[in-house]
Amino acid sequence: MAADSLDKIVSLAKRRGFVYPSSEVYGGLESCWDYGPLGARLKNNIKALWTHAMTQRHDNIEPLDASILMHPTVWVASGHVAEFTDPLVDCKNCKARFRADEMKKDPTDPETPCPNCGTRGQLTEPRAFNLMFKTFMGPVEDESAAVHLRPETAQGIYVNFHNVQVTSRQKVPFGIAQIGKAFRNEITTKSFIFRTREFEQMEMQYFVKPGTDEEWFEKWKEERLNWYLDLGIDKDHLKFHEHGPDELAHYAKRAVDILYKFPFGWKELEGIHNRTDFDLKRHAEHSGKKMEYFDDAAREKYIPYVVETSAGCDRSLLVTLADAYQEEELEKETRIVLKLDKRIAPIKAAIFPLVKRDGMPEVARKIAAELRSAFPVFYDESGAVGRRYRRQDEAGTPYCITVDSQTLEDQTATIRDRDDMSQIRVNISDLKAYISERIGL
Ligand code: GAP
Repeated sequence: MAADSLDKIVSLAKRRGFVYPSSEVYGGLESCWDYGPLGARLKNNIKALWTHAMTQRHDNIEPLDASILMHPTVWVASGHVAEFTDPLVDCKNCKARFRADEMKKDPTDPETPCPNCGTRGQLTEPRAFNLMFKTFMGPVEDESAAVHLRPETAQGIYVNFHNVQVTSRQKVPFGIAQIGKAFRNEITTKSFIFRTREFEQMEMQYFVKPGTDEEWFEKWKEERLNWYLDLGIDKDHLKFHEHGPDELAHYAKRAVDILYKFPFGWKELEGIHNRTDFDLKRHAEHSGKKMEYFDDAAREKYIPYVVETSAGCDRSLLVTLADAYQEEELEKETRIVLKLDKRIAPIKAAIFPLVKRDGMPEVARKIAAELRSAFPVFYDESGAVGRRYRRQDEAGTPYCITVDSQTLEDQTATIRDRDDMSQIRVNISDLKAYISERIGL
């Protein structure tokens, strides 16, 4: 059985150290989360796979790591100052806030009750609320020192388009990819790490010749879906959603979302956008700098169009947890297991001495030290071995190695497979190669 409710995933994430509420000792901070030892490793592994797929495997996609704080004019040029708003409605009675476009009933109708306290006639007119976080640079807190935390990583790529193209001597079509934090002062946050105010994006802007943009759009749409399938996500849990004209962001000519079937319904996981020359043109206008590309072969100058792939790192992590979560009925208990793709599993192997005596802990520690040079491992000698297996099943650890009395005689240990719980004996000296081969390292 898969995870039928988000609560099960939240509870497992907390119990095993994937995700904790931020500042928990102070009661937490709404919509902020901290990634624990397993979560931090899982997130890094997802980012590494994305980087591998999006830069290393393409000789024409360059990585970038741009600053979170940018020149204030960037956000005027990008349209975020004027357009990056959600319609906000307040309840004058209970002070709760809602997104007008997410309310089931018309908030301007005096008969519409407040969704929180039920009072009628107390909802304000919807007003545009800008989602960017504002802060101040330097000691003086006035408008001249105001800067924004970036609401998307993409703008760092646009303003560096020329730098990257010239220094890396790329020719159109080429891409720039980066992973980084983005911030949005969302009116409503919900569903664990699905919608938060601080999150991480994995974005790639692909610069193409105008007229070839539709073709590239189709290519990237397929390639991004395949990335999730390659990660082992069930194909029946993924689908495309084409944006209608009223859904398109201010910069997009066309947009398709990859949706995932979360326990709380089909929701966006990644967006693929045809942003045309909108951003480069706007930065050229506002900065006075040329954003053109000179095509040597065709002897022509143009501003490239951009096909963007924009994935949420936190949402990808939630998807890997939700899709991997399984409850299996065994004879005497229910086994909860995370059948994560082995490449992203936070810990690759756990090593147990069967008992804490007869020299078994020493041998097991030696194995752990040896394997640790190749991949993350976990040494555990506490409690019954069955319970140790269950803890590792919940952590998604692909292999558990147990040192027993036979090990002391013939230098073999049992290795247990997370997915089918089968066990075989492997020579200690072959363990590293056995596991490395199977976890795709
Ligand atoms: N540069 C284009 C862009 O930012 P978007 O559709 O607004 O497009 C892209 O965001 C992805 O970023 C989303 O598909 C989602 O995975 C992630 N994302 C956006 N807002 C988020 C939030 N508040 N919390 C977590 N992830 C978010």
